[in-house]
Amino acid sequence: MSNYTDPALLLFEPHERDGIEKLVNGASPFKLAWLSGYLAARGWDGFKQENLPSMAAEKSSVSDMQPVRILFASQTGNAQSLAEQLHNSLCQAGLSAELTNISDFKPSQLKEESRLVLITSTQGEGEPPESAESFFKLLSGKRAPDLKHLSFAVLGLGDRSYEFFCQAAIDADRHFSDLGGKAFLPVQALDVDYEQEANAWSEQLVSVLKAQQPEESSFAIASDQNVPASAEYGKQTPFKAQLLVNQAITSLGSAKDIRHYEISLETSGIQYQPGDVLGVYFRNNAASVDELLKTLSLKGTETVQLDGEAIELRHALLEKFELTQSYPKFAKAYAEHSNQTQRTSPLRENVADAVALRAYLAERQIYDIVAEFPCQLEAQDLADMLRKQQPRFYSIASAQSEVGEEVHLTVRTVEYDAFGSTHYGGASGCLASLKEGDDIRVFVQPSEFKLPKDPQTPVIMVGPGTGIAPFRSFLQHREQAGAQGENWLFFGNSRFCEDFLYQQEWQEWLRSGLLTRMNTAFSRDQATRIYVQHRLKEEGKTLFEWLQRGAFIYVCGDASRMAKDVHQALIDVIAEHGNRSSEQAEAYLDQLKQEKRYQKDVY
Ligand SMILES: Cc1cc2nc3c(=O)[nH]c(=O)nc-3n(C[C@H](O)[C@H](O)[C@H](O)COP(=O)(O)OP(=O)(O)OC[C@H]3O[C@@H](n4cnc5c(N)ncnc54)[C@H](O)[C@@H]3O)c2cc1C
Ligand SMILES: Cc1cc2nc3c(=O)[nH]c(=O)nc-3n(C[C@H](O)[C@H](O)[C@H](O)COP(=O)(O)O)c2cc1C
Repeated sequence: MSNYTDPALLLFEPHERDGIEKLVNGASPFKLAWLSGYLAARGWDGFKQENLPSMAAEKSSVSDMQPVRILFASQTGNAQSLAEQLHNSLCQAGLSAELTNISDFKPSQLKEESRLVLITSTQGEGEPPESAESFFKLLSGKRAPDLKHLSFAVLGLGDRSYEFFCQAAIDADRHFSDLGGKAFLPVQALDVDYEQEANAWSEQLVSVLKAQQPEESSFAIASDQNVPASAEYGKQTPFKAQLLVNQAITSLGSAKDIRHYEISLETSGIQYQPGDVLGVYFRNNAASVDELLKTLSLKGTETVQLDGEAIELRHALLEKFELTQSYPKFAKAYAEHSNQTQRTSPLRENVADAVALRAYLAERQIYDIVAEFPCQLEAQDLADMLRKQQPRFYSIASAQSEVGEEVHLTVRTVEYDAFGSTHYGGASGCLASLKEGDDIRVFVQPSEFKLPKDPQTPVIMVGPGTGIAPFRSFLQHREQAGAQGENWLFFGNSRFCEDFLYQQEWQEWLRSGLLTRMNTAFSRDQATRIYVQHRLKEEGKTLFEWLQRGAFIYVCGDASRMAKDVHQALIDVIAEHGNRSSEQAEAYLDQLKQEKRYQKDVY
């Protein structure tokens, strides 16, 4: 005889057991089946009533454990790579985290989040990156959500040379708090040399989040999940490429020097998409570096320490440091030093006032400051005052389907006279001086600025000046792909005869039908100035029809005035031809932006 007793029977008293036995013994299989369903339904109702509070409690502990959402808003990839590193660290620490580009995040989703980390750069004049515009608009607008349930942390990347240092991060932090959120950590605003401080911040955040995590978490995910593979060539590891072509595409009479560059990517395996940008590291001008060394009574052969490595000073000045842009860190340290050596240095007065310092630095390169206040300096002191060179970015002007292992750029040389000599921009000046066969260090920075997936979709491209670059890439790509969608280009520059960039190429594409329409605005060819925004308004009726038909609209080039004027012109066009108020027209544009049908690449 078995000692086994059905555990269910232990639940019942002997008289209850008898009742059950009586009911089921001899019942037909159909009756038994019906009875089991009936009892299950009765039992489940009661079970729900009794257990509701504890189930709700379980649910809320689950939602507290939502993955940490790491949102990044980045223009040139810095915030993105920090976000990727943080995501990696959180995963390695056994914490659940989701990495999301802010352009893929619906702002309305914010109210669903319980733990959020935002890493954002600041662009324009204290504005968030293009991809984060709708997010910031929601935070500061009337429809801002209640964020009492939100814990958050904000990391900002910026540049102290700008008036509104890390403003986007500061604004986001304030909005989150004002809407009821609680900060894990105070907002952190970092300058261009951000790596070390960013690492420290990430470590701190990991400890704070770990401390909140229950001992055993079923949410920990493997450290290699969702972590993008690092490419062979990138910001930290640029490719040494060879210059193939350096050709002026403005004529000699032009007020501007705009050049077309072709660079070989052979052997690198580097791939890019239309709309991506190229990061360029450059060599500072050797004559200017030698002049600076002479002024500071340095030979250049001295050895300095940089990132734990010994390097010859002259080489470091040529390749590693920023000398054409000036910045507060240098001015302050140099003023301090020159004050010790020259007791009455007027540089100190400028440094004391942030507004005066900005105005002073805006007009001067590092070379100018040193020339104005010569002094004697140890090589290492100089190295410690300088900041590391930041790559410059250029919209890629070619499509790989057309040019293979090459990349083309359209670059305006920064060139101006000041303090008795001609000054050049670091990267654009270096590029302009390169000859065929010279090398240049580059890497591809993927961008959000992308053609529609559907090749039938019509596109409208607004690209005055060097803003034309990505549209050459778009058209090359569409031609190669045999895309049937219509293409409409708005181009502007100073004068038709001197400044019509890539004129022949557009004309050929107009002839072949690839380019459906083209409107130009040469601002100085008549008494009144005409810009692309005027052409957009003149063509308002057709433009609105294109938008209604699903066209994508792209704007590239100057951020300070052009992009704002074009934005306003689009609002005017939509209001007039779509019979809408300005607010409704703005909402229409916002909707296009959300759908990635209105994209900007402005600088
Ligand atoms: C995403 C992106 C895409 C871009 N695409 C393009 C592109 O396709 N083509 C293009 O040409 N540029 C493009 N740019 C701009 C480009 O990255 C550089 O900013 C530009 O070439 C200047 O860099 P530079 O190194 O030559 O000059 P820098 O060395 O950076 O500048 C020199 C210094 O001179 C000062 N200065 C400049 N002009 C004057 C003046 N007139 N008077 C007094 N001081 C002055 C400035 O304050 C600056 O500090 C893009 C930028 C971004 C962010
Ligand atoms: C066109 C332009 C405008 C910028 N404006 C600001 C600014 O107003 N304030 C600031 O702190 N930094 C400003 N910066 C500096 C960037 O925020 C900084 O380089 C940052 O590291 C870029 O990060 P990202 O690559 O993630 O966009 C600007 C940079 C560019 C190229």
